[in-house]
Amino acid sequence: MVVPSPSPTSIKTSYKKKKTIIKIPTIDLSMERTELSETVVKACEEYGFFKVVNHNVPKEVIARMEEEGAEFFGKATYEKRGAGPASPFGYGFSNIGPNGDMGDLEYLLLHANPLSVSERSKTIANDSTKFSCVVNDYVEAVKEVTCEILDLVVEGLGVPDKFALSRLIRDVNSDSVLRINHYPPLNQKVKGNKNSIGFGAHSDPQILTIMRSNDVGGLQIYTRDGLWIPVPPDPNQFFVMVGDVFQVLTNGKFMSVRHRALTNTLKARMSMMYFAAPPLDWWITPLPKMVSPPQNPSLYKPFTWAQYKKATYSLRLGDSRLDLFKA
Ligand code: SIN
Ligand code: FE2
Repeated sequence: MVVPSPSPTSIKTSYKKKKTIIKIPTIDLSMERTELSETVVKACEEYGFFKVVNHNVPKEVIARMEEEGAEFFGKATYEKRGAGPASPFGYGFSNIGPNGDMGDLEYLLLHANPLSVSERSKTIANDSTKFSCVVNDYVEAVKEVTCEILDLVVEGLGVPDKFALSRLIRDVNSDSVLRINHYPPLNQKVKGNKNSIGFGAHSDPQILTIMRSNDVGGLQIYTRDGLWIPVPPDPNQFFVMVGDVFQVLTNGKFMSVRHRALTNTLKARMSMMYFAAPPLDWWITPLPKMVSPPQNPSLYKPFTWAQYKKATYSLRLGDSRLDLFKA
């Protein structure tokens, strides 16, 4: 059967005076299931990145999360710092460092777990009950979208265990996190450099990232043709990125997508990412379906998610962590 290409969002971009049309795949989750699972696999394989529409996350759930985020980042600096440090969870901020590998942003990092969110909310919001309800509703809804996408991929790859991947995300010990980034408008001192980096180039380490932002652009993805492509924002839809662990699970059939975020000169940008991750002690190896030794052995040594996270701390943001685990 011929797999239809995901319907594209065309972006005209100009590089070295040459106009290039780049198509960001858009996947309609209300499509017929067999077609859908094949289309999702194709998008993960070709781009490691796609947009989803008709995802069933209510607009109000998104709007309330947006409001809570804006209220928090609108607070005075000393108040926000009271919700820090960001490690392991809370408020953090970073500026371009000597290596130029970070960016100029502030953020909230939360463990995507209702009890943890509820506890953490006490230092974040004046009405902590409201804040934690809003965050937990958002996380629950986005987690469902993630699990649906993972189930579709598993089906499209022909993996017999239907819930092989979504089970990891639904596990009570899943290490998934929610991160809300706030990029203030470009600082006066770097005025003139419109391409100021808000968040340096990297791939996400987890399985899958589900992100959305307000209506301010900034996200760019790096294509296999070596181009940085701006992703037009779409506040009520989600963008999905393949992470490093997904690359390993598919033994390199999917590749994690390199991306970065630029700061806007005039407007603040707020983005929120749900990073879907397995439990810390979970061993990461390619799905049995994706290897057939000796012709097609695993390209990676087995490692736990905790080991991979630890490796990410010791490297600079954009370095290739997967190189450390090549077989
Ligand atoms: C990230 O890659 O984690 C940040 C992307 C964004 O803020 O749009
Ligand atoms: Fe990222």
